[in-house]
Amino acid sequence: MTTLALRRAVPRAGDLDAALGGDTLAELVRQFKLHGDAFRMHAPLLGRDVFVLSHPDHVRHLLVDQHARFEKGIGIERVRILLGNGLMTSEGTLWRSQRKAIQPAFHRLRVEAQVPAIVAANERLATRIAAAGGEPFDLGRHLSDITLEIVLRALFGGTYDVLVARDNPFALLTDEAERDLKFAYALRKLGGLLQAEIDRRRAQRDTTRHDDLLQTLIDARDRHSGEPMSDRQIRDEVFTLVVAGHETTASALCWTWYLVAGHPAVAAAVRAEASAASDADRARPAADRFPHAYRAIAEALRLYPPGWVLTRRALEATSIAGVDVERGDDILVSPFLVHRHPAFWDDAEAFDPTRFVPERAAVRPRFAYLPFGLGPRACIGEPLALAEMLAHVVTLAHRCELFLVPGQRVEWDARVNLRPRSTIQFTAAARRAT
Ligand code: HEM
Repeated sequence: MTTLALRRAVPRAGDLDAALGGDTLAELVRQFKLHGDAFRMHAPLLGRDVFVLSHPDHVRHLLVDQHARFEKGIGIERVRILLGNGLMTSEGTLWRSQRKAIQPAFHRLRVEAQVPAIVAANERLATRIAAAGGEPFDLGRHLSDITLEIVLRALFGGTYDVLVARDNPFALLTDEAERDLKFAYALRKLGGLLQAEIDRRRAQRDTTRHDDLLQTLIDARDRHSGEPMSDRQIRDEVFTLVVAGHETTASALCWTWYLVAGHPAVAAAVRAEASAASDADRARPAADRFPHAYRAIAEALRLYPPGWVLTRRALEATSIAGVDVERGDDILVSPFLVHRHPAFWDDAEAFDPTRFVPERAAVRPRFAYLPFGLGPRACIGEPLALAEMLAHVVTLAHRCELFLVPGQRVEWDARVNLRPRSTIQFTAAARRAT
């Protein structure tokens, strides 16, 4: 078959809002039901078609086997205004050397070293939540605050307490819901504060040892040239890590509690396992010690993956598991669609954490699950996010019982992240003296 014939064989669906906002995901879901694994949508803003691919084989070819034939494309162009040229948005040799430089900061042992501080922050959160005394509250707000604190502590270590001593200059990340140009401008204004901290650390180089992400960025040297990162690059990486690391984790936890609280048997199992564990295990939660909590999180990430769409643009003509694309073609893979693909997930819309028991996970195609992406551009923060989510769920489940306020209509809103459209109200009951 010729390339043209193969392209024509991919059914053509409706229009796509190439800004990937509004109801794009609802439209993708509708078209997936009509056309299945591969279809094209016209994007009037781009003046051309965008391919939407949802089979695990497409995922493997695009993100893993042939990753070098693609760059990030449409999804990232708007994000670049906010994050500059950090790890999420950079390409080619810059991306490769930055990834190499930053990767060690997310090594398992470095993440484990942060867990005691993460657990302590969650203990304080549990005390605040338990103090709500049965009054309804917006859990999302607490989650946004705590995930921001955790990523800022990872970045600034001991300097975090100094930075937020008066007012938290990063509070706009939790106070502002929109991620528009106004927000981008306000965020970039924090560059001055960041520069002052970089300057301070460079000046103190020989006297103070910092073991945090910012120091990793400052100390990094290019393998070939031996040059340090420019200050601008450091600032872009910090903004990238704050934004990418905070909202995604907050959304994932909000969905986790929404689903767990809505399924009392799962909630009871998560609480029982948290209470049965030793203090030492709760102080350093590991997935194998808390399988119910781990599976509930994994299943929430399946149903509501915060990174609901991944975009790529072909750098050359190629075939993605039988779909021929040409140079410049844009491709979308939506983890939301792949995770609810009826051929790979039984009763795909149902919340069922037992999907993640090892025996069931082992018989599923590996590329049917990608909440953190896959391949070389997969999420660098996954180890931190998983440790953070597990510590949060275990600590809270040990200290309180969370209930959904009845009668709420909960819907998703697919913006930069997949998050609840409006706040979800919970009540809490303390389980231990606080
Ligand atoms: C539940 C939490 C999280 C989810 C669901 C998530 C999801 C993702 C996904 C799907 C990608 C891949 C995007 C693509 O292939 O186009 C990604 C990349 C990335 N994430 Fe995460 N993420 C989470 C937490 C974090 C954390 C905690 C950090 C850092 C503190 C982080 C930093 C990044 C960065 C820097 C990239 C770009 C990596 C690269 O291109 O080399 N993320 N994330």
